[in-house]
Amino acid sequence: MTNQRKKPVSRIAGLGRAIPERVLTNQDLEKMVDTSDEWITSRSGIKRRHVCDPGTPLSDLATEASKKALDRAGVRAQDLDLIVVGTVTPDMGFPSTGNFVQAKLGAKKAASFDISAACSGFIYALQYADNVIGGGSAKNVLVIGAEILSSIMNWEDRGTCVLFGDAAGAAVLVPSNDDRGILSTYTGSNGELAMLLYMPGGGSIEPAKDREIPSDRFTLKMSGNEVFKHAVKMMSDAAVRSIELADVKVEDIDMLVPHQANIRIIEATAKRLKIPLEKVYINIQEYGNTSAASIPVALDEAWQNGKLREGDLVCCAAFGGGFTWGASLIRF
Ligand code: ACO
Repeated sequence: MTNQRKKPVSRIAGLGRAIPERVLTNQDLEKMVDTSDEWITSRSGIKRRHVCDPGTPLSDLATEASKKALDRAGVRAQDLDLIVVGTVTPDMGFPSTGNFVQAKLGAKKAASFDISAACSGFIYALQYADNVIGGGSAKNVLVIGAEILSSIMNWEDRGTCVLFGDAAGAAVLVPSNDDRGILSTYTGSNGELAMLLYMPGGGSIEPAKDREIPSDRFTLKMSGNEVFKHAVKMMSDAAVRSIELADVKVEDIDMLVPHQANIRIIEATAKRLKIPLEKVYINIQEYGNTSAASIPVALDEAWQNGKLREGDLVCCAAFGGGFTWGASLIRF
């Protein structure tokens, strides 16, 4: 799916993030599974990740990030028309986490729902929100990427449990009346690769109510090597498409904000795109892979620490389970 705008119709008016206080370091993980700080750092770039206490509602984390984003945007919750949450770790099967966030914010006139597109969830949600604003059916839209991946980790599987973390990021989208805003978005998917990254239990095939299903089926499964092979191509191709759609040159991009899954994937993507690493925002060392939250968290962090400034041209690119991928070009 593509969005191409001669003039942006929506812009990000405010960003926010929520990070759990509890930190799990590589050294902590050394005590839990057969791994080492050296292996995790060299293979993934991750040093620490933040995790929620068991049983934490995802909507709490998402609401905390949203309140900051709304405050910075100067938009009141009651003026929101729509809330879209990208997540694969919702509060519960249904209703959506968006519904819970709507209630917690008191966003009484907002429609709300979730998008399940794994690590591409924020880009998918952003594209939807941009289209809704462009179509004139909403003015103020809250777009959230939030995950509590610790809730679906198998803490005995060293191939996955060292890689993921919990976080939420939020962006308030409002109509754009100048050159700032979302210039293009490209999204794609390939369901033939679904079983490379998935959680088998909890759906209609292996219902959670079936007590005979081992609890391990309700945890994330990943063929890391196979995912790796596709990731760089998917993320860089998506970025190229969004750049072409916006009719800009790679050299014009001030910052690449890639999904933070693995430092080697990030570096290879930047190389393929011919974007120097100084222009790439990297915070994987602190959070690990937070799936749909990784891009809005990185954007908020970059904005708060002054690395991202008004007028900057930013390319956000993601890939994830599904498989899904997507990229968005945004003038801040
Ligand atoms: N500590 C120590 N050794 C480990 C660990 C660990 N935590 N995990 C795996 N190993 C071992 C393996 O068992 C294997 O041992 P063997 O050679 O004796 O069989 C060895 O290390 C090498 O394993 P590989 O899987 O080949 O290691 P690789 O270099 O591919 O790195 C990794 C693994 C980090 C998972 C990498 O493949 C990767 O990052 N893949 C992409 C994953 C990703 O991006 N996922 C997110 C997608 S986004 C979303 O939707 C959530």
